[in-house]
Amino acid sequence: MLGKHSKLIFAVSMGFLVVAVIMAAWGFQKIVDKQIQKNVQLENNSMMFDKWLKLPMPLEFKVYIFNVTNVEDVNQGEKPILNEIGPYVYKQYRERTILGYGPNDTIKYMLRKRFEFDPEASGVLTEDDEVTVINFSYLAAVLTVHDMMPSFVGMVNKALEQFFPSLEDAFLRVKVRDLFFDGIYLNCDGDNAALGLVCGKIKSDTPPTMRPAEGANGFYFSMFSHMNRTETGPYDMIRGRENVYELGNIVSYKEQKVMPMWGDKYCGQINGSDSSIFPPIKEGNVPKKLYTFEPDICRSVYVDLVGKKEIFNISAYYYEISESAFAAKSANPNNKCFCRKNWSANHDGCLLMGLLNLMPCQGAPAIASLPHFFLGSEELLEYFGSGIMPDKEKHNTYVYIDPTSGVVLSGLKRLQFNIELRQIDTVPQLKRVPTGLFPMLWLEEGATIPASIQQELRDSHKLIGYVEVARWFLLTAAIIAVVTSAVAVARANALLSWPRNSNSVSFILGPSVTQVNKGN
Ligand SMILES: *[C@@H]1O[C@H](CO)[C@@H](O)[C@H](O)[C@H]1NC(C)=O
Ligand SMILES: *[C@@H]1O[C@H](CO)[C@@H](O)[C@H](O)[C@H]1NC(C)=O
Ligand SMILES: *[C@@H]1O[C@H](CO)[C@@H](O)[C@H](O)[C@H]1NC(C)=O
Ligand SMILES: *[C@@H]1O[C@H](CO)[C@@H](O)[C@H](O)[C@H]1NC(C)=O
Ligand SMILES: *[C@@H]1O[C@H](CO)[C@@H](O)[C@H](O)[C@H]1NC(C)=O
Ligand SMILES: *[C@@H]1O[C@H](CO)[C@@H](O)[C@H](O)[C@H]1NC(C)=O
Ligand SMILES: *[C@@H]1O[C@H](CO)[C@@H](O)[C@H](O)[C@H]1NC(C)=O
Ligand SMILES: *[C@@H]1O[C@H](CO)[C@@H](O)[C@H](O)[C@H]1NC(C)=O
Repeated sequence: MLGKHSKLIFAVSMGFLVVAVIMAAWGFQKIVDKQIQKNVQLENNSMMFDKWLKLPMPLEFKVYIFNVTNVEDVNQGEKPILNEIGPYVYKQYRERTILGYGPNDTIKYMLRKRFEFDPEASGVLTEDDEVTVINFSYLAAVLTVHDMMPSFVGMVNKALEQFFPSLEDAFLRVKVRDLFFDGIYLNCDGDNAALGLVCGKIKSDTPPTMRPAEGANGFYFSMFSHMNRTETGPYDMIRGRENVYELGNIVSYKEQKVMPMWGDKYCGQINGSDSSIFPPIKEGNVPKKLYTFEPDICRSVYVDLVGKKEIFNISAYYYEISESAFAAKSANPNNKCFCRKNWSANHDGCLLMGLLNLMPCQGAPAIASLPHFFLGSEELLEYFGSGIMPDKEKHNTYVYIDPTSGVVLSGLKRLQFNIELRQIDTVPQLKRVPTGLFPMLWLEEGATIPASIQQELRDSHKLIGYVEVARWFLLTAAIIAVVTSAVAVARANALLSWPRNSNSVSFILGPSVTQVNKGN
């Protein structure tokens, strides 16, 4: 009975094996990938989409201020002694408005951020704290004039004394609230030609930190209120429906595919996502660099792959910022197009290691760096008496990515804003100050996914683990079936051929022996 059907069973189990091999090698992966893509792509029924449209939890936005403790001494040429105060913690809510869908699988949207002070997380610090910081708007005006027409700077400074009431030196005594959001009033009224020049320049450059006063001829200066007031965009982002490995890539910003202010196709490239969303990572093709596009500094930056690292019991890929991102031209020739002339009379337009000139981006002579000049030139640190101490743990930028979904498990972005304090003979307030790069504050923007989503991810990984087990189970079952039926076929053959092969010796020793004997 068995003998009759064994060949059929063998054929069926052979077919089963072929199917199992195809499924194990390709089919299961395809199904899982399809499912993941369905969940992460930007389609209005995907799991990711709603979270992307409106972030389910606020980001933490922390600001650290450099309080200058020895202003009198600095005015006499001594090294600054700084005292870092912070963090002032804000909750940052993010919401996107969809404008439409474009060709090539893109979505067009505006991004809106809203800030709210978090008194609990800020502890003893309040927005009413008085701090002494470098007078950013004043120095921005003086440096701009000094670079354009050095011989006029003394005269213009006289006019600035009207623009900036109670102008004694290059430092600003201010309430944290005003410095960050509410603004410090700058008066443009007056029939002074130099004042008109400065105000006209601000009007034409429209630096984001200067907000025109309503119903008055003047401006409010503040560091972050533009982020709270205005939407950014439009962004065009790839939805990942056609190719999930391009999910989140920004292809254009404000309808431009290249940021024009660097005057260079390479440095103006818009690479990567807006850091809200990343594509899944293929095990065999892990990107060495992860790009994000940062409109605040008008460029893409990247973090480098360090390796696999566990976080929340999830095996993630860990990326962190490396020296080369803000490297000087000598260390990373690719960065040479970020060098812009005219930022300072004393330099060729290329900055030291670890610095980025924001003049082309913000229309003000601001210089960005990592906090405390982390990964920057040692030379920068010599300027300070104390208070600047780079520390990887505190000043790094990094991200943990869940490879299967591309979800950011935890990430922090940190950036410091600086301006040059320049000794200028013809300006009484700057006559004796030491020239150097002066930090004002640094900020940290970060998020850690909530425990509920961590659990969701762990569950989905478990499910994928089961699928993996099922795949091997299926394959093993198919192999066992084939082997068993093969044995059955062999036995059936043996039974059928029994009468033919009546030579018991040859049966016991096997046909090969007789073969060998015959051959001889
Ligand atoms: C889903 O998105 C499509 C565009 O892809 C849009 O036309 C449709 O109205 C959306 N559906 C819902 C329910 O929002
Ligand atoms: C900042 O330093 C000044 C002295 O320069 C001091 O009066 C002030 O209290 C400090 N602010 C804070 C918040 O510690
Ligand atoms: C879509 O992609 C094609 C080929 O990559 C490109 O030539 C075209 O300019 C793209 N269209 C838009 C609107 O970006
Ligand atoms: C941000 O703007 C909103 C109004 O749009 C305002 O209520 C809120 O106080 C502002 N946040 C800060 C920190 O000033
Ligand atoms: C610094 O500049 C502000 C305007 O930003 C001005 O009002 C103020 O008088 C200046 N501070 C000092 C201490 O000179
Ligand atoms: C943008 O990405 C491309 C390809 O990944 C890379 O070669 C290039 O260096 C990046 N550009 C910048 C400015 O980082
Ligand atoms: C991680 O796993 C360990 C042991 O498997 C467990 O004790 C711990 O609670 C887990 N942590 C989280 C955050 O789930
Ligand atoms: C530098 O300034 C000069 C004169 O102000 C101007 O002609 C030139 O275009 C500027 N160069 C750059 C790179 O901005």
